[in-house]
Amino acid sequence: MTERDGTVVCPGSYDPITNGHLDIITRTSMVFERVVVGVVNNPLRKDKTLFTAEERKAFIDEATAGLANVEVRIFSNLLVEFAQELGAKAIVKGLRAISDFEYEFEMAQLNRKLDPDIESIYVIASPHFSFLSSTGVREMATFGGDVSDLVPAPVATAMAERLGGR
Ligand code: PNS
Repeated sequence: MTERDGTVVCPGSYDPITNGHLDIITRTSMVFERVVVGVVNNPLRKDKTLFTAEERKAFIDEATAGLANVEVRIFSNLLVEFAQELGAKAIVKGLRAISDFEYEFEMAQLNRKLDPDIESIYVIASPHFSFLSSTGVREMATFGGDVSDLVPAPVATAMAERLGGR
């Protein structure tokens, strides 16, 4: 099997990684040979990230340390180019509610236009994570809400430190 046959990319802003992301990454790692979690350096949709790309990567490295076929990389170019560089055959993303669909549908079509050989695959969120988003978690933490059930422990600690007192 060539590397292209077994490699997929799980891209995202991961600002920060949530237990919902981890569920998608873990389930993807059970299906594919090699999973590269791609942390986008400067997400276009966000004004400014709470954590730097290096911090976001470090949280994911720690949270996925037990998954032997998962690695984490930062990317700053087009997602399709990043996938091509890795020899990935597919982009794998989580899909929660209908609200995710419109954006993901557009992204999948644009990415297909750029490289029809790279498939977009969607993994349906587990029901208990279907409400969970990085945006929601950041908002909760900003107002002092308890996010310890929603994100890995080091992320919860770092959020409390960074957002505390806002
Ligand atoms: O976690 P997010 O914000 O939903 O992740 C979005 C991501 C990283 C998948 C998206 O912003 C992305 O693909 N960025 C890389 C630039 C790119 O290739 N954009 C689409 C081009 S048509």
